[in-house]
Amino acid sequence: MSTIRVQNLVKRFEQQTVLQDLNLTIPEGSFFTLLGPSGCGKTTLLRCIAGFNEPDLGSIWFDEDDITRVPAYQRNIGMVFQDYALFPDKSVRDNVAYGLKARKVARDELTARVDEALELVGLKALAERYPAQMSGGQRQRVALARALVIKPRVLLMDEPLSNLDAKLRLSMRDMIRDLQRQARITTVFVTHDQEEALAMSDQIAVMQSGRIAQMDTPEALYSQPVSAYVADFVGSANLLEVEQVAQSVVSVAGQQLIVDTRDATGDGLRKLVLRAEDLSLQARSQVQPDNALPVTLTGRQYLGAKALCRVALDNDEVLQVDVPGLQTFQPGDALWLTVPQTSRVISQ
Ligand SMILES: Nc1ncnc2c1ncn2[C@@H]1O[C@H](COP(=O)(O)OP(=O)(O)O)[C@@H](O)[C@H]1O
Ligand SMILES: [Mg+2]
Repeated sequence: MSTIRVQNLVKRFEQQTVLQDLNLTIPEGSFFTLLGPSGCGKTTLLRCIAGFNEPDLGSIWFDEDDITRVPAYQRNIGMVFQDYALFPDKSVRDNVAYGLKARKVARDELTARVDEALELVGLKALAERYPAQMSGGQRQRVALARALVIKPRVLLMDEPLSNLDAKLRLSMRDMIRDLQRQARITTVFVTHDQEEALAMSDQIAVMQSGRIAQMDTPEALYSQPVSAYVADFVGSANLLEVEQVAQSVVSVAGQQLIVDTRDATGDGLRKLVLRAEDLSLQARSQVQPDNALPVTLTGRQYLGAKALCRVALDNDEVLQVDVPGLQTFQPGDALWLTVPQTSRVISQ
């Protein structure tokens, strides 16, 4: 178990700079996720930590050890890939034993540790099978056992659940988190799936074009995104361009709203972040509620417990609002849209 520190890391492939002066500290024993769209540099960063990519500048530390130039096989990492990367011609047991054999672990200890790792992922009964005889979920559990059996300093996982079907993904999330907690192993998990990141992580770093856009707990990332990019990527958000009139006051489509402007700095554009589940609708025939805008319902999808509504402001901007499924507004209805005063304005 180690603290991982990445300092001023730069990685280029030919002309393209894929990691741009990247800094990161991953606390010992934590479950840390790199989240971002395809191509933003997640895999490249993970491979630099693993030792499969050599950075052009900067350094990587496990605790007080500078491992930047240490070869991958001497870093004592466990790695799990999206496509499992099992040896097809080895049994499950031999796949898991591979790292211990390479380390010349004595036979009795090797057998005991392989058994223990297979037990941990619930595959002891299938130890003599070959990868081709197993399901995707089972193969990924073999890969996990193979990574953990060497008792690595850090566990690195690159989109390990992306090839599994939706239901299996959910149960594998729990299993991976449980194993990580038991082993108390510093884990770096890569995903492009924001829900997966929110559900599993102690901390998340959102990546944008080779940089860290924001690093925070799931709760802070969701409730206090620092930029439109993060707000939009982590849970879908309505981003409404507004004009700041005064401290805590903005103007939208000719109406004034009280909101939280503390994070809006500089002269740039102001955007109001509105989560669909934080908004509410009332009939326009009612007295205008505090902090409300007149809107027209343009669409409604009934999903049982809730309904997804689309509403248009007077300036034709469209927002999504989640309402209780029982609420039966219809397209064309004139409504009040209430905006919480805690809604945040950001300046990017
Ligand atoms: N070996 C490589 N050679 C050249 N370009 C690469 C190589 N690996 C990655 N890249 C480029 O680096 C960028 C980031 O890739 P990657 O780290 O795989 O992103 P992610 O995992 O976030 O999808 C992409 O534009 C990709 O094409
Ligand atoms: Mg990738």
